Amino acid sequence: MDFKEEILNLKRELDVTVVAHYYQKDEVFELADIVGDSLELAKRSLAATTQNIIFCGVGFMGESVKVMAPHKRVLMPKIACCAMAKMIDVDYFHANLKTLNDAGISNDDILPITYINSSAAVKAIVGKMGGYVCTSSNAYKIIEKGLSSGKKIFFVPDRCLGQNFAHKMNLKSAVIGVDSIETIKDADIICFNGFCSVHQLFTVEDIEFFRNKYPDIIVAVHPECDPSIVQRADFVGSTSQLIHFITQEIAPTQKVVVGTEFNMVNRLRPNNTFILSSTKPECPTMNETTLEDLYNTLISIKNRTFTNEIFISDETVHYARVALERMFEV
Ligand code: 13P
Ligand code: SF4
Repeated sequence: MDFKEEILNLKRELDVTVVAHYYQKDEVFELADIVGDSLELAKRSLAATTQNIIFCGVGFMGESVKVMAPHKRVLMPKIACCAMAKMIDVDYFHANLKTLNDAGISNDDILPITYINSSAAVKAIVGKMGGYVCTSSNAYKIIEKGLSSGKKIFFVPDRCLGQNFAHKMNLKSAVIGVDSIETIKDADIICFNGFCSVHQLFTVEDIEFFRNKYPDIIVAVHPECDPSIVQRADFVGSTSQLIHFITQEIAPTQKVVVGTEFNMVNRLRPNNTFILSSTKPECPTMNETTLEDLYNTLISIKNRTFTNEIFISDETVHYARVALERMFEV
């Protein structure tokens, strides 16, 4: 079967918008009506006029659309989970709070901020506690806003993002379960010990290799990379910031080596762009979605069986939305 042709026909026939994150496979990405990074997709999906949204990405992204637009039907061709978002759940969140409480840091001393790469349930606890969601595009502003409360930031789930922004802002950071209680008590940003395995692939040796081979090369990385990488990079940015920098801000002849997901880097510009790893940094769960999955989801809308529809309880939607709206206000 020619899935591409069938998908185009079904899209014309049905009341549906197909949304895809930059990390999707090329053949899926090409057929989307809206593409973007996690922040852009959360905002732009809301403006979609169709009742059905098919979200080609990972679970927390589809959930964010459902939280912001609960009246829409959000379906995912694959229930693919972000490995980092899976590292924290409500129980782990509370266990970490208890560690802080036992160290003499009360809940009133903490303002939680969750990276958008977390479940709606985790966003909801953060919302209940007066906290914010952030993305890699706006983390600086959100942390700055959070610190204006005079409290310590409890940052979940990505320790690298927390450590990297603390370093950029000249603040002290600590990771629960890694650093001593004394270091944690002294920190401005206390991080949960989560990470993205894809962005941990890049090493200091990879940077040295490219700098030795091409002395003028620019090293551009995502802030989910380890602090040892981020602190050696020439440019650090979210997915959209990296795309803008590489395609708009530097000359086409400038060599650049990029530390982030492969599918996105691969379609940036054909020449003078390298991947900062000898291993292909593909996000395994983002790569699960195939054209056949997208076709099957469209057929399920046509047959009104609606496979892989996202459902979230009203209470979770309410509080997760509070945390997301606080982010949009900033
Ligand atoms: P963006 O917010 O840059 O889209 O990143 C999401 C993500 O999962 C990066 O690994
Ligand atoms: Fe999650 Fe990492 Fe994949 Fe991004 S690249 S979706 S953080 S596992």
